[in-house]
Amino acid sequence: MDYNEVMNFALKKGFYFPSCDIYPDKSAGFWEYGPLGVNFKNNFIELWRRELIRRDEILEIDGSQIMSKSVFEASGHITNFADPIIKCKKCNSTFRVDELIAAKTKINMTENESLQKYDELIKENDIHCPKCENEFLKPSRFNMMFCIGIGPENETAYLRPETCQSIFVDFPRLFKIMRGKLPFGVAQIGKSFRNEIAPRQSILRLREFYQAEIEIFCNPNKLNSLTKSSQISNTIIRIHVDNTTKIMSCKEAVNSKTIPNMFIAYYIGLLTEFYAKTGIDMAKTRFRKLSENEKAFYSESSFDFEVKTTVGWLELVACNYRTNYDLIRHANISKENYSIVDYEDKIIPHVFEISMGVDRSLYSILEHSLKNDIGNKRILLSLKPYLSPIYVGVLSLLKKDGLEEKTNQIYSQIKKNFVASLDHSGTIGRRYRRLDEIGTPFIITIDYQTLKDQTVTIRMRDDMHQIRIKISEVESFLTTNAF
Ligand code: GLY
Repeated sequence: MDYNEVMNFALKKGFYFPSCDIYPDKSAGFWEYGPLGVNFKNNFIELWRRELIRRDEILEIDGSQIMSKSVFEASGHITNFADPIIKCKKCNSTFRVDELIAAKTKINMTENESLQKYDELIKENDIHCPKCENEFLKPSRFNMMFCIGIGPENETAYLRPETCQSIFVDFPRLFKIMRGKLPFGVAQIGKSFRNEIAPRQSILRLREFYQAEIEIFCNPNKLNSLTKSSQISNTIIRIHVDNTTKIMSCKEAVNSKTIPNMFIAYYIGLLTEFYAKTGIDMAKTRFRKLSENEKAFYSESSFDFEVKTTVGWLELVACNYRTNYDLIRHANISKENYSIVDYEDKIIPHVFEISMGVDRSLYSILEHSLKNDIGNKRILLSLKPYLSPIYVGVLSLLKKDGLEEKTNQIYSQIKKNFVASLDHSGTIGRRYRRLDEIGTPFIITIDYQTLKDQTVTIRMRDDMHQIRIKISEVESFLTTNAF
C-alpha cells in the first residue's frame, strides 16, 4: 500500500493523529500516538532494548528535555544547527532554499552549501516565490532549536534537538559510577525537538519526535580490535557507496575498506539484524555513506540506514563517527575532566553514535507490513507477533448458551499477562477481519465444544489456520509463539 493508504489506515485505526486537531491554530509537525500506536511503539522500544541495549550491556539514562544554553554553545548547535532558508520579499513566505533549488532544477543539493552558492543558483535559474511569483531576499540560516525562557527572569534555554547531549554532559559521572572500561555504551530514548521550516508528510518530518540513541565511547587506537566483532563478521549488509549498493559480509566490507574499521562494521551488522527482526523488507534497505557535504557538523564519517518506501528512501538511523568532538568541547567549556585511562592510553574517548528515528521506523514497518490479502478480501497487517499492538483476540462464537460468560472468564485470565482484546459483537468472520487489520497474530475462539471439553480454537492471522488446544495450555502457547 502507498503512503496515503497507510496514513488513512493509521488514522482510522488510531495509530496516530495530528495534534490539537480540532483548533484552527494547530501547527504542522506535531502528531500524537493513539492507543494502538502507543502499544506498537512500546513493543518496538522493547525490541530495541532487547536486541541492542541488553544484548551489549549498554546503560540507559533518561535526561532532561530542556537544557541550558551552555550545553548547546559547547555542542556547536547554537552556531551550526541551522537550515538554509529564503524569504519572499513580498508575501514573506519562507522556504528551505536547498529544497527549492533541487525541486526547480533537479540539481542535487544539501543543506551545507554556502549561502552565496544558493544565492547564485536562485539567480542563475531565475527562481521566484512559488506562492506569489515575486523575488526573494538573500538566503540566510535559521537555527532549528526551540529557544525557551525559564522562570520569571526568562533565562535562555533550549528544547534538546538530539537526546545524546545529556549523555555527553553526564559522561564523567557515568564512567566513574560504572567503573567504566572502553568500549562503553550509553543509550537514551525520548523526545527531541526541531523547529523544521516546512514539516511535511505527517509522521515523517516532525517538530517533536522520538529518538532512540546509543553513544558508544571507544578508544580510537583500538577500532579494529573489538573482540565481539567476530559475532557479526559474516552478517550480510547492504552498503551504498558511489551510487552503488554492495551486498557483502561485515568482514568483507572492512577488508575492502568500504567501511573504515571493524568497530563501525560491528554496529552496522547489529543494526541489520535488528531491522530484519522488525519485519522491514531488508532487500529495500541500505546503509548509505554520506558525502562530505551531507554529514552533520560533528561527524567525521556517517552512514545513514535508509529504507525504500512509497515516498522514496527514508533515513531511519544516522550512524555517526563523532570522534571526541563533543567531549572535548564540553571539557573545554565546563572545565570538567573528560580524559580517562584505557590501559596504556590517556585519552578523551571517541564516540560512535547510532541515532534512530522511532516514528519513521514505525511508519516504515507499517508500510512494509500492510497488504490487501486474499484477492482484496481482507486487509492484513502482518506484523511480527512481538510488535503487534494487540497480541491476542478472545471471541465467543455466539453470545448465548453460556458462551459469553465462558469467554469473559478466559479473557480475564489472559489479559493479566498479554495485551488482549475481547469482542462479542458482529459475525465471527467480521471480528476476525477487524483483528487481522490491526495485526493481531492469534485469535482464541470459545465455542460449544469448549463447554464440553475445556478446549478452544486458536486461529493464526497470516494463514488463517486453526488448531484446538486445552484452555490450560493457552498461556504457554501464547508465550512460546511470541518470538
Ligand atoms: N544525534 C544525532 C542526530 O540527532 O541526528
